[in-house]
Amino acid sequence: MTTLRILACVLGILSITAAVPISGAPGGNSSCKLDLVFVVDVTESIREEKNIPKVIEVLQLFVQQFHVSADGTHVSFATFADESTVHNSLNDPNYYTEDAVLALINSTINKLTRPTRLDNALKKADEVQLNGVRKSVSTVVVLITDGRSHPRDTNFDALRDHVYRIKSRGARLIVIGIGPAAQRERYRRVLKEIGGKDVYYFDGYDELGLGISNSTEIICPPSTCKDSPGMDVAFLVDRTKSIGDVNYQLLKGFLLQLAGALTIGHNATHTGIILFAKYPSLKNTFSDPNFHSNAAVRHQIDGFDDTLGRPTFTDRALIEANLSLFTEEGGDRTGFPNVLILLTDGQTNTASKPFSEIIPSLEAKGVRIIAVGVGDYEKFQDQLEEIAGPDRVFNAFNFQELSDLFHVILNEICSTKAGWYSAWRPWSPCSDAGIKTRTRTCIYSTPHGKGIGCVGPRMETKPCGVGAKRARGLSEFRLPGKEKDWNFGHPSTD
Ligand SMILES: *[C@@H]1O[C@H](CO)[C@@H](O)[C@H](O)[C@H]1NC(C)=O
Ligand SMILES: *[C@@H]1O[C@H](CO)[C@@H](O)[C@H](O)[C@H]1NC(C)=O
Ligand SMILES: *[C@@H]1O[C@H](CO)[C@@H](O)[C@H](O)[C@H]1NC(C)=O
Ligand SMILES: *[C@@H]1O[C@H](CO)[C@@H](O)[C@H](O)[C@H]1NC(C)=O
Ligand SMILES: *[C@@H]1O[C@H](CO)[C@@H](O)[C@H](O)[C@H]1NC(C)=O
Repeated sequence: MTTLRILACVLGILSITAAVPISGAPGGNSSCKLDLVFVVDVTESIREEKNIPKVIEVLQLFVQQFHVSADGTHVSFATFADESTVHNSLNDPNYYTEDAVLALINSTINKLTRPTRLDNALKKADEVQLNGVRKSVSTVVVLITDGRSHPRDTNFDALRDHVYRIKSRGARLIVIGIGPAAQRERYRRVLKEIGGKDVYYFDGYDELGLGISNSTEIICPPSTCKDSPGMDVAFLVDRTKSIGDVNYQLLKGFLLQLAGALTIGHNATHTGIILFAKYPSLKNTFSDPNFHSNAAVRHQIDGFDDTLGRPTFTDRALIEANLSLFTEEGGDRTGFPNVLILLTDGQTNTASKPFSEIIPSLEAKGVRIIAVGVGDYEKFQDQLEEIAGPDRVFNAFNFQELSDLFHVILNEICSTKAGWYSAWRPWSPCSDAGIKTRTRTCIYSTPHGKGIGCVGPRMETKPCGVGAKRARGLSEFRLPGKEKDWNFGHPSTD
């Protein structure tokens, strides 16, 4: 929860600084250019026939939030009840205009039937609708449903399998639950299995119409990313056997999602990827021009060799990033913030080098480290906090839930232009004067972020040994307000 509060704080700061023009910022609405797959429930539970015009109107309004065009957003539209009917494919040029998509919606929603089969709906999305995706843009599947999937006929295993496949393909799945039924516990459970935390409830189409701009924000990448200058982003991806083949596909799907939401380009963000198990394997440096587009990076992630290894040596991967990416030869650009994202499911091998001998090198280069742990958090929380500092460690309970972290991680990556604090260094030994101190460093990789983001003291002191004795003595005659002296931050001495 602390993380969220700090994040909110960082975002607050960013919104104040958003007016500052950022050189190299990607132009226009490019970050909300999507392959958008609509899967719309047209069962009778939507109620009276007279609602059909309303349904059409709201769906049309929805589509109008995205700029449909040949090189903008593409839309595939399907309606379902018992079976799902796909009305157009994403890459059908006849639907590269808003008018064509609006007319399609108008002409395909005409009668309501029953029952609801979410498994069949997702099967079509997976096997048919997603076939027309582009590598250059993010894919989002929006399921709009009353949620009342037939309890006996629905094949829930098949449904879960399609959810897994859709996520592994790097598409985000967002569920909009319409009507009061969707909110009942037993339907909620099913919708949560599909959308995770990305399930939003509306009492009806009227309410969805009113909340349409909110829905747009959910579907588009966070606005901090639109304001973000280009960055040099390193991905360190664990590929040890403990992850397992199925989860590894979900991990790749999550990477595809992130890579789709960044603006990758020659003058924009550059990415470098290191896969690691026992040894790190550098896939590309920042400077490699073959990977200066979203399409190329997503193609590369898709094509990763799927062999998993063991054991985990996170230290070696971090050292590799320091030596091969965050260097001049690695293509580290001055003026572009440095970010490192570590994705791992476990602890590093006990023979690893201490992180305290590695992390300062990265921090000295202004690298903002974000660690994402998947699985049993308690097992590796301490290690990840040592690597990234407590505020930039995120955890998903399992690989299915990794996609719930999409917005938070992306926000964290894109807010890197502000300065930030490293983790506290260990306390110093007790001095003769009876004080021990610990420090942290304000890090910023461009003049742009100088100091913003670093709120609070850079150094803390506390009494120890004779100092502690003196402090206890003092406390007996303490003047009001004086007690803070021992703990309060002092200006840095360097
Ligand atoms: C961005 O979106 C606005 C509408 O919100 C539109 O008028 C404008 O043309 C778009 N800009 C680009 C570069 O696509
Ligand atoms: C929708 O279709 C009806 C006829 O079925 C037509 O009268 C109406 O103008 C159409 N509306 C839009 C927005 O295309
Ligand atoms: C949109 O989101 C804001 C803030 O999250 C919320 O206060 C508002 O009620 C939402 N509007 C609708 C119509 O859902
Ligand atoms: C990148 O920026 C440089 C200098 O600002 C400019 O000359 C070049 O045309 C830009 N390249 C692209 C692909 O935008
Ligand atoms: C990190 O890289 C720098 C050179 O860019 C090097 O001087 C330093 O020793 C490296 N740190 C570690 C821990 O390898």
